[in-house]
Amino acid sequence: MNEAAPRADDADQTAFQQRLGALNLGALWVGRRGVDLSQPKSPAAPALWRYGDIRPSLEEAGRLIRAEEAFRRVLVMENPAFPGEMRATQTLYAGLQLVLPGEIAPCHRHSQTAFRFVLEGEGAFTSVDGERAWMRRGDFIVTPCWSWHDHANESDGPVVWLDVLDTPLVGFLDTVFRESHDRPRQTIDRPDGMSPARFGAGMLPVGYEGSRGASPVFSYPYGRSRAALAALARSTPPDACHGLKMAYVNPATGGPATPTMGACLQLLPAGFDGADYRATDSAVYAAVEGRGRVRIGDETIEWGPNDVFVVPGWRRHALAADEDAVLFSVSERPVHEALGLWREERFDRQG
Ligand SMILES: [Fe+2]
Repeated sequence: MNEAAPRADDADQTAFQQRLGALNLGALWVGRRGVDLSQPKSPAAPALWRYGDIRPSLEEAGRLIRAEEAFRRVLVMENPAFPGEMRATQTLYAGLQLVLPGEIAPCHRHSQTAFRFVLEGEGAFTSVDGERAWMRRGDFIVTPCWSWHDHANESDGPVVWLDVLDTPLVGFLDTVFRESHDRPRQTIDRPDGMSPARFGAGMLPVGYEGSRGASPVFSYPYGRSRAALAALARSTPPDACHGLKMAYVNPATGGPATPTMGACLQLLPAGFDGADYRATDSAVYAAVEGRGRVRIGDETIEWGPNDVFVVPGWRRHALAADEDAVLFSVSERPVHEALGLWREERFDRQG
């Protein structure tokens, strides 16, 4: 040790840090001491919400409050690591929304992007910027950032869907804006099916200015998505980690459905026993068909139809199913990719 530069003793260090604090400064060598930054360690926990456990509470909420009063009658899925914070992962909000016959969830818009995945019922619709998308089980509906939207149920039974929003991420960025419409329901000025016709047939209107924003196809009916998976399964061997997995895309860009969130549908064929995998993005899954399990680290979660579970980012996990099973999933992967941060690691078994 150079005698000209003796080490400060602990008391000197502490006094120095206190003086720094008064100047709104911190010492990097103190704040980072002992912190392992070699790879991500999401504080989110693996989590499961069984539909059968939640459904009675949803019914009770239906008796306690009307959709118009609640504005949105949603039971929010809170990650056990973040109680009271209304988020399923670090970046994503998830909840189950119930709209009873004759009810309206009033019109508004906000800077958060919302995904809907219909779990139960038929005969409700979501209106997005003047066009209705009718909702059936398994349909995936996008409400892009800052688009007017309201929901209504014109059937004689309850309709339930999974909402996934980028609310925690948008909040972290201090970019939350919200506005209520002056009427509960917006004016419908485009015929039903207009967006799928214009953008969903593998064609685009000539002169359409491709947008880097959300997909102009805001409704992806389950029948078509499921048929695509089935056709893929007939012609392609399953991926060792993912089975047969397809992403919902923005047809104008070929990229994800929205800039902040992407969604996928995947088929795990009967007997699928997936290899371990991890990626930086965290995902919210909804089981659509069949039963299966996911092993996340030392924990195994068994899931069945309409159950929702979370796989935190960079957590080694593996999917398996004894019968044909279909999973819908949402993650913030588009943000990771746009920022050059996305990574994945596969642990394929060697033959
Ligand atoms: Fe909303």
